[in-house]
Amino acid sequence: MPERAVTVPKLAAMKARGEKIVALTAYDAIFARLLDETGVDVILVGDSLGMVVQGQDTTLQTSLDEMVYHTRCVARGASRALLLADLPFMSYPTPEKAADSAARLIREGGARMVKLEGGRSRADTVRFLVGQSIPVCGHLGLLPQSIHQLGGYLVQGKEDRAAQSLLEDALLLQEAGAGMLVLECVPARLGEEISRALDIPVIGIGAGPGCDGQVLVLHDMLGLGFGKRPRFVKNFMAEATDIASAVRAYAVAVRERRFPGEEHVF
Ligand code: KIV
Repeated sequence: MPERAVTVPKLAAMKARGEKIVALTAYDAIFARLLDETGVDVILVGDSLGMVVQGQDTTLQTSLDEMVYHTRCVARGASRALLLADLPFMSYPTPEKAADSAARLIREGGARMVKLEGGRSRADTVRFLVGQSIPVCGHLGLLPQSIHQLGGYLVQGKEDRAAQSLLEDALLLQEAGAGMLVLECVPARLGEEISRALDIPVIGIGAGPGCDGQVLVLHDMLGLGFGKRPRFVKNFMAEATDIASAVRAYAVAVRERRFPGEEHVF
């Protein structure tokens, strides 16, 4: 691993210094290299690849084999950024199964951290993975793998009780050993509250500017997509001449706390 490589402890140190963390998704080597060279801190091989790359309706169809394949492609393009890969739907029903799946993403794919969705019900799995020296990122708020339970891509944690429950989940994941947390589609004040309450970095997507960092799906921020753009997405390609400039503009806007703006929050 190169000396300048972004690591989990380095991300924690960035949070402690108040430096915003820049994250984006990638699914192949060429975009991974572009993000890496642009100084993006975390590259997420999201199971969103099922929707973005394969044209599926949800992330539920993305398989572990596909995640391993795309993680390996991304790993060939990225050397500095921390490579975070999603454990896809039903690849972590038990702690042991989670460890087998995570081991494939790390050994075959080259991931340096794995992400799983869910709160207190996943705490034992997080503890087990961390006990096997596997760095884990939690994912709370809108959980795309629970879309049929949630009933749609809806903002989470709007009521006091739901917000309190999310805060408790976040603390439990941290206590279980999670090294980072992705927080998706929650009111900005809750994003800020959870980020302040945790020592580990909280990376928001539709969770407001108070988070320790931001992540977007690459294709969304490049204006590639059909239908209505989610409120939390900004098309950085609109004012850029090429993709590298758009990614650079996103990174600068996150670091200078200009993104997300008021028009992007709930
Ligand atoms: O799969 C993905 O791209 C994600 C982001 C939405 C955070 O999990």
